Amino acid sequence: MPKRAGILGIGSFVPEKVVTNFDMEKIVDTSDEWIFTRTGIKERRIAGENVATSDLATNAAKIALENASTKPEEIDLIIVATVTPDMTFPSTACIVQKNIGATRAAAFDLEAACSGFIYSLSIANQFIQSGTYKKILVIGAETLSKIVDWTDRNTCVLFGDGAGAVVLGEVDENEGILSTYLGADGSGGQFLTQPAGGSRLPASFDTVNNKLHFIKMEGNEVFKFAVRIMGESAKKAIELAGLTSEDIDFIVPHQANIRIIEASAKRLKVSMDKVYVNLDKYGNMSSASIPVALDEAYKAKAIKRGDNIVLVGFGGGLTWGSVLLKWSI
Ligand code: ACO
Repeated sequence: MPKRAGILGIGSFVPEKVVTNFDMEKIVDTSDEWIFTRTGIKERRIAGENVATSDLATNAAKIALENASTKPEEIDLIIVATVTPDMTFPSTACIVQKNIGATRAAAFDLEAACSGFIYSLSIANQFIQSGTYKKILVIGAETLSKIVDWTDRNTCVLFGDGAGAVVLGEVDENEGILSTYLGADGSGGQFLTQPAGGSRLPASFDTVNNKLHFIKMEGNEVFKFAVRIMGESAKKAIELAGLTSEDIDFIVPHQANIRIIEASAKRLKVSMDKVYVNLDKYGNMSSASIPVALDEAYKAKAIKRGDNIVLVGFGGGLTWGSVLLKWSI
């Protein structure tokens, strides 16, 4: 019998510095009214100059470990989902492993843009189900402020920094992860990119001068894709678990744009009071959005043990994915 994996503890951490839409008005030609009505975002958290993704990830991991009553040495594997690693290598997961003293743990980073946490959770689920590992730290952590072009109003207003972490382990067979679903469409990769810094366009004076190390996005294309895929992807996880939309108690979606979330909820025929939204406070934190939102929803008692919860995300790649879990803490 495969084992059942579930969340044993959760934590999140965001930088202290708040940058409001009114602050953004002083940086680029924009307005609080435009940002809020088009996206639902009011403010975002921005990491300090000397703060890297591993710093946020480490803080979130420590909180999750404490909440799971788990010692760092009990952790078998650390997966960090991120598109803003401290550096290409060593992986951010290895840096976190050292920071928290998880001396027994294997560690790697996973890059699936905003779907990264869902992809990571899905992989961790396999390791627990197979009995290979007993406890896995899954972290979504980003410092997107470091790769945003602060002169491009089309993108800089959308993103923020933060980290969320869960300890995944074995739970009773009637709880935990009931289904996972992942997808990708590389033919849409050009809609969301950080063009330079890899082997295609290594860092050079030209790549820096042409601002090719920053996020480039075709917002409208991503928007259309997201509205379609969020609903489809959530439906798939629900079907795979043998459930229907009526069985779902709560949805924690990727927090990119309130209009995307509302349109997806409508397609799923789920009312918005069952959908957690915190993008007004944080903007889009890519792979950190879902675990931070999940942590907040849990702390706010919006979700309780036994609830059927759908986590659903989409992002660059293009990628998407969903997880249906029965809340186990
Ligand atoms: N302030 C004021 N005006 C702006 C701003 C701004 N911050 N940004 C763009 N505009 C202007 C544009 O220049 C454009 O002006 P024009 O008509 O004169 O050319 C106008 O506003 C309308 O722009 P649109 O792109 O049509 O605006 P839209 O309503 O589509 O909203 C948005 C844009 C918010 C980016 C939307 O398309 C969106 O949310 N897309 C999805 C983005 C997303 O989810 N990304 C997730 C990626 S996650 C990851 O993997 C990192």
